[in-house]
Amino acid sequence: MLRNVEKLVGFCFLAYEENLPLLLSELKSRFPQYKKPEIFGELVCFFDKTFSADFIENAKINLPYWASTACFEVEKVSFDSIGDAAKYLKDIQRNWAGYQFSQFRRAALIQEKLPFINQKPKNFPFEIVSSNIGLYTLLDEHTMLICANTTSTLPRGQLSFVEDHENPPSRAYLKIQEALVRFKAAFPNANLPKENDYCFEAGACPGGWTWVLRNLGCKVLACDRAPLVDKLMNDPMVEFVKHDAFTLKPEEIGKVDWVFSDVICYPERLYEWINKWLDSGLVSNMICTIKMQGEIDWALVEKFANIPNSKVVHLCYNKHELTWMHCKAGNINESN
Ligand SMILES: C[S@@+](CC[C@H](N)C(=O)[O-])C[C@H]1O[C@@H](n2cnc3c(N)ncnc32)[C@H](O)[C@@H]1O
Repeated sequence: MLRNVEKLVGFCFLAYEENLPLLLSELKSRFPQYKKPEIFGELVCFFDKTFSADFIENAKINLPYWASTACFEVEKVSFDSIGDAAKYLKDIQRNWAGYQFSQFRRAALIQEKLPFINQKPKNFPFEIVSSNIGLYTLLDEHTMLICANTTSTLPRGQLSFVEDHENPPSRAYLKIQEALVRFKAAFPNANLPKENDYCFEAGACPGGWTWVLRNLGCKVLACDRAPLVDKLMNDPMVEFVKHDAFTLKPEEIGKVDWVFSDVICYPERLYEWINKWLDSGLVSNMICTIKMQGEIDWALVEKFANIPNSKVVHLCYNKHELTWMHCKAGNINESN
């Protein structure tokens, strides 16, 4: 039996796994107007009956990067049994993912009674489905917070890949795989890199990203101060150039389908370099890691985000970094 349902005024943000301190720090810097969070594990909530509809709408438009998903229209539900909790969720909609910081066994029993959702690691490439998914979390044995319509269509806003422990030269391959999957979700009309696409890759050593691009059939011009692994250096579809990527002019490289950068550098330097490429008109798509050094310069991150046809995201496989993506021809979809 259901005991009580309370509609809460406010919103919650779920931190990327093990990134709660970064989410809290971002909230403090970028959203000082959000005060006194209630924190449940890695779920950071702001509830206040005095929040206006406009305040909440603004929060929906401008989400923190370090949140994997956000919940608006949250309910606090008190229930008697596992069956009651599952029935309440199922009556609202089909798809629910749990986020738990306690009550793991009880939550697993609730999830078993809900329609199946695939939460297994994925094989690359795959397409993020656009159907809506809810989030629930148990606060205690008889109380859960629920949100039917989270801002991401992925369970908890998170994804992981089946890993290849033998072939890729570095674990960075997971980051570009996720970036490409999210690129396709962000720009639904865009194509992923394909057979014979020409890619310029800055900071390519030892070759995790190049390995992914070669598996997609691309030709890669890989630039680094150090060579890639032998297998890639000997690949006729990979040309290696030993150079400072930032002093190579786009005009010296020519027209490319994709530019990638995973160079460790100051974000200011990356921003200038990106603009050189955009001004040249020689590139169609770009994906670049913005490596953060110490305190984050949020005004600069905003400058990246404001570049037309582009988006800044935090990936599950990003650490203290963000990923900027641009598609010249793409219309942006803001979810995920
Ligand atoms: C994080 S690693 C890249 C890993 C690579 N994405 C992979 O998948 O294996 C960063 C690379 O950037 C290179 N790098 C740093 N500064 C550079 C510059 N100015 N020009 C070219 N490469 C640079 C480093 O030598 C290093 O190999």
